[in-house]
Amino acid sequence: LRAKAAGLARPIGVGTAVASGPLVSDAAYRAIAGREFSALTPENDMKPQFVQPRRGVYAFAEADMLVDFARANDMAVHAHTLVWFEALPTWMRSASDKKTVMLDHIKTVAGHFKGRVAEWDVVNEPINEDNPDGLEHNLWHQAMGADYISQAFKAARAADPGAVLYLNEYGAEQDGGRWDALYKLVKKLRADGVPIDGVGLQNHEYEKADRTPPETFRKHVRALAALGLKVRVSEMDVVSGGDTTMQAKEFAGKLAVCRDEPACTTFGAWGFTDRFGSTADAGKYPVGPGDALPWDKSLNPKKAVTSMLAEL
Ligand code: XIL
Repeated sequence: LRAKAAGLARPIGVGTAVASGPLVSDAAYRAIAGREFSALTPENDMKPQFVQPRRGVYAFAEADMLVDFARANDMAVHAHTLVWFEALPTWMRSASDKKTVMLDHIKTVAGHFKGRVAEWDVVNEPINEDNPDGLEHNLWHQAMGADYISQAFKAARAADPGAVLYLNEYGAEQDGGRWDALYKLVKKLRADGVPIDGVGLQNHEYEKADRTPPETFRKHVRALAALGLKVRVSEMDVVSGGDTTMQAKEFAGKLAVCRDEPACTTFGAWGFTDRFGSTADAGKYPVGPGDALPWDKSLNPKKAVTSMLAEL
């Protein structure tokens, strides 16, 4: 995949989320990650709960290992994520000085990886289309209002001026309230001069309703491009329920749009093998056995790999 994607008239990245456990324990997993992908997103190891388990106590060993693996295999690191409302240590939830906590975290973590990661998801999943302002009223919003988002991007830019800064969101590849709210938000951020460079559209396809037409995704890529933003498919997985032909078509359809749209920099999946599953397996969704990724449990390529190769 990565070789073909690099050979396109306009090369694109092919990314995967990588987990540190399997990377250490499973040589075959390691081999496919390094051979097939040119971009690596730490699946969990850079999240606040892991990098700052106690206030002021940082733990970078796993994340550093992933960064070293990426460097050794000539992969770009898409770092994930500085500000989110999940994967937080409990102390962070109860801290009374949220703004200081957020800014310290960004400064220290983005500073630690400065020069070694290409990109950051600065703010993850800020949208809630059911609220009047279109934003999730999470702990950061409660403390700082909508301004937490601009503050986070400014702090990330200051900490690592060379990193490309993304906002990452789910469910906005399709039309509807989530997309409308996301577009409104990033348009305002751009107009306000906030240092945001791109938007990640996660593209999780857990249920049938998530199998969104590539043309809708294309329309959204273009709308974001018109605001001067880059776009990436950041976390694609497709629960197949055994229908690997449908799954192959879904992966290939989004990949083809990314290949053709100049603003789209990377096509990324949320993991690559059913051996270690994807978010779809977390039990949150009624989706049956883990089958959402392009390689099966034995690490054999499924139809999705063939269909993606055919688009490159
Ligand atoms: C998920 C991981 O895949 C799981 O291992 C973990 O238990 C929970 O988080 N959107 C995101 C990712 O931005 O960070 C999430 O990752 C999946 C949804």
